[in-house]
Amino acid sequence: MDAVTPVRDFPDTTWASDGPTRGVEPVVESGAVLRFPHLRFALMESELRFLDPRWADGKAKNISLRWSGPPPSAEMRGAAGRPAELAALQAMIARYAEFSEAFALRLFPHYRGHLRRGNTSFRPVDVAGRATSWRKDDTRLHVDAFPSNPMHGTRLLRVFCNVNPAGRPREWRVGEPFEAHARRYLPAIKRPLPGSAWLMERTGITKRRRTEYDHVMLQLHDRAKSDAAFQQRSPQARLEFAPGTTWVVFSDQVLHAAMGGQHMLEQTFYLDVAHQRDPATSPRGTLERLLGRELR
Ligand SMILES: [Fe+2]
Repeated sequence: MDAVTPVRDFPDTTWASDGPTRGVEPVVESGAVLRFPHLRFALMESELRFLDPRWADGKAKNISLRWSGPPPSAEMRGAAGRPAELAALQAMIARYAEFSEAFALRLFPHYRGHLRRGNTSFRPVDVAGRATSWRKDDTRLHVDAFPSNPMHGTRLLRVFCNVNPAGRPREWRVGEPFEAHARRYLPAIKRPLPGSAWLMERTGITKRRRTEYDHVMLQLHDRAKSDAAFQQRSPQARLEFAPGTTWVVFSDQVLHAAMGGQHMLEQTFYLDVAHQRDPATSPRGTLERLLGRELR
């Protein structure tokens, strides 16, 4: 097994269905980063003004589109501006959602009919200098897991694109493969306290029940971020995504940290484990194999 998350490069120059890469479910499910160095998301002349942090309302780190129903029923959050400007900004982000969805379905035809569109986000704010708690500090290596939003094993597939106009790369670190990461911390992770999942759901701390799977994933997230020695000395590699680069990962599986950059678009998709090409490669499958039992 590789010591560090592998990166695979692909030659695509178009988001459309006639591009060269398709059927790469095994690559993304293996926990690799799929990188497309020549796949830029073109902005219209009138959209270049949106590459400015002043469009963020200052409360959220992202401007996001939430798709409450089938497209085009989206609501934009986190942006500040006049109505006509906001409509144009929303149209730009929605176009990214359409492009990345068509692209994902070409890359992963096995997921067709099962990929659910999550939020689309635009990040015009610099990664550096965002003051956060250690738990929210995404410059530390982590797998994605959320305290209030248990996923119940649903996969998080993300399509990122760097749209920086000044040549500035998006800088990431990637870490060890998921199985090595799970082996590192699993022995120290205790089962959740009886009744705690019920209580957290009842009091609104979680949006739905935190299963033992969610508990373990959140423990992996928290233990990695709070472990300074792990952050500094574990196997890792720096990656740069130049402007005009698109990349795709399962972010609940790939250890990642966002170290720098500004102006990025990101589309999240949800996929139930059962609809993977090989569900055994999922974090749930890996954890259950290492533990020798089911996680409920
Ligand atoms: Fe993350």
